[in-house]
Amino acid sequence: MSTETHFQETKNIPRHVAVIMDGNGRWAQAQGEDRLFGHSNGVDSVRETLKCAREFGIKFLTLYAFSTENWARPKTEIDGLMQLLVASIHNEIDELQANGVRLKTIGDVERLPKDCIESLKEAIETTKNNQEITLVLALNYSSRDEIIRACNRLAEKVKTGLLTPGDIQQKDLENVLDTANIPDPELLIRTSGEYRVSNFLLWQLAYAEMHFTQVFWPEFRREHFIEAILDFQSRERRFGKTSDQIS
Ligand code: IPE
Ligand code: IPE
Ligand code: MG
Repeated sequence: MSTETHFQETKNIPRHVAVIMDGNGRWAQAQGEDRLFGHSNGVDSVRETLKCAREFGIKFLTLYAFSTENWARPKTEIDGLMQLLVASIHNEIDELQANGVRLKTIGDVERLPKDCIESLKEAIETTKNNQEITLVLALNYSSRDEIIRACNRLAEKVKTGLLTPGDIQQKDLENVLDTANIPDPELLIRTSGEYRVSNFLLWQLAYAEMHFTQVFWPEFRREHFIEAILDFQSRERRFGKTSDQIS
């Protein structure tokens, strides 16, 4: 039975998939190209992954596009990434709209360059009523930064009497995270053979299944996405219970 046939017969599709798109630079450098060549080729992988996710009925796809730590990279690479973001939004917006894709961001987006903020805001506004799938871009995102910003919002609520110290619940924190109203990812994919979380969705990944692949992000295609979904479907998610209690 081919992977494809097997996949289509199964029903257990994650509602939310998160991806650490990694390996653009190494992929480009291995062929003697500039790191930015890797990033621009990575856009094709984004397009294909989004298309598959829609087709498979996944409702949320979160992509780690730029971390707060990535500001430490050479300025030319950062500038190139930001330009690529603006160009990609410009090129893809009609397609997103036609396919019912709602765009969202997580991360401290206000600290991105002005033109990035503007094109993001416009695309978010244009696509806000779309319902097929939500594409969440993590931009200037790190989980610790998100949690600290959330703590400040909680403190503000305590100050104004909306919350009482000693009575703060998980839901209260979740409501002030950037991911408020987004369900936790059930599956995390990381490409390029790195086995780490790199400050991504630390709270939200509490019970996610992890799938690691050696493939560099610019080479990530439908077959690799299916492989990840199949891997997810082969897992027994116990949430702390025993195997007997699950079956
Ligand atoms: C991921 O690829 C994209 C971003 C972090 C923006 P990298 O640029 O990290 O590529 P490698 O890991 O150096 O190969
Ligand atoms: C994680 O990749 C961030 C993104 C994919 C945007 P990095 O390449 O920045 O992570 P490390 O440095 O290898 O942990
Ligand atoms: Mg990397």
